[in-house]
Amino acid sequence: MIVCHCQNIRDTDIHAAMDWMRAADSDTIITPGKIYRALGKRADCGGCLPLFLDTMANSPSIEVPANLQNLRDRKKRSTSR
Ligand code: FES
Repeated sequence: MIVCHCQNIRDTDIHAAMDWMRAADSDTIITPGKIYRALGKRADCGGCLPLFLDTMANSPSIEVPANLQNLRDRKKRSTSR
């Protein structure tokens, strides 16, 4: 299903970009702007934003995993700087 008609972005494109971002950084906050950038595109009219956000909310990659291992990794990174 096409979500953004200005940039021809499909729901599958949004989910793939979100999966890629989550795999690259488990702690990242995923925003529509980051998805546009990951797809090499820019928003135009913004009319798709409500559907864009709904599509994002339906992806399992939207949530930042809050498990103990992530917290340990984050603490390790901050103490090694
Ligand atoms: S429909 Fe997405 S920017 Fe216009």
